[in-house]
Amino acid sequence: MLTVGPRVANGRLADTGFVSALVTEAHHRYRAIAEGKNADYIPALASVPEDLFGISVIDTSGAGFCAGDSDVSFTLQSVSKPFVFALICQVIGEDEARQRLGVNSTGQPFNSVIAVERTSEGLSNPMVNAGAISATSLAPGATADDKWQFIREQLSRFAGRELHLNEDVYRSETAANAHNEGLAGLLRAYDRIYCDPLEATDIYTRQCSLAVTTRDLAVMAATLANGGVNPLTHDRVIDAIHCQHVLAVMVTAGLYENSGDWLYETGLPGKSGVSGAMIAVVPGKCGLASFAPPLDESGNSVKGQLALRFLSERLGLNLFASMPAAAG
Ligand code: DON
Repeated sequence: MLTVGPRVANGRLADTGFVSALVTEAHHRYRAIAEGKNADYIPALASVPEDLFGISVIDTSGAGFCAGDSDVSFTLQSVSKPFVFALICQVIGEDEARQRLGVNSTGQPFNSVIAVERTSEGLSNPMVNAGAISATSLAPGATADDKWQFIREQLSRFAGRELHLNEDVYRSETAANAHNEGLAGLLRAYDRIYCDPLEATDIYTRQCSLAVTTRDLAVMAATLANGGVNPLTHDRVIDAIHCQHVLAVMVTAGLYENSGDWLYETGLPGKSGVSGAMIAVVPGKCGLASFAPPLDESGNSVKGQLALRFLSERLGLNLFASMPAAAG
């Protein structure tokens, strides 16, 4: 019997000069856009300079392309969610992760309570706050500090360098965290929080407050594009199988209620954060990242979406694009 093994994307990016020129062009094209507004429900995010704008691309061989403020530090926020989900899949397996967190899109805003209440089981998905707090509560460790250290160390492996907390943002977010604490309490009523709800919320808030640059984020995204191996350090962070599950959930829920529009425009799994961070992952090719604080009404970076869409189109990254087979 003929058996055919699984096939994986193994295409390569365009040549380096072309990628470099397009990353620079994306920055030039969109840097003057003044639409959108910084998140202000976390006071420390409201005061971040609105004109910061960085773009980075790292390919699966480790080559990097950057433009603008690619070395400026900002906080991970919701871009932490796919990586923590990946770590939880690695620890408990993808089937149990699905059973305990859910993987269906909610069509709701990122902080939705309806996301929990819409099914009798209280399941959402790990890209929205509810499912992400549940995911964080599954981190291994006997104490809250052990769980936090696990998450910080493992996220650092994705980035290929040690990541640290932005204390100002962490304090600011902690002081304004009633909504997430409420979500965690509600999750507890559904048995969807797997440690103390306030501890889980605090660890989640810490993971959101880790400081990164677009370069770090592009390395993290490239690790998901590279079968779970960091292309710079060659460290295997997660097994390859988990990348495809994480990317599947990013496709349907990474930009919350705008995930359909995003996919229609880019054909790529993406994830946004209220700091103005964004990533997109191109399996087998590269990770893309951007940072620009002003957000649209769904909490997604205005300039980031434009820049990553431009790069997807111009670099031919859309996963759904095809050409007719050659005639004859
Ligand atoms: O939990 C929160 O509200 C924030 N720490 C993260 C939310 C977020 O980034 C939503 N993204 N677009």
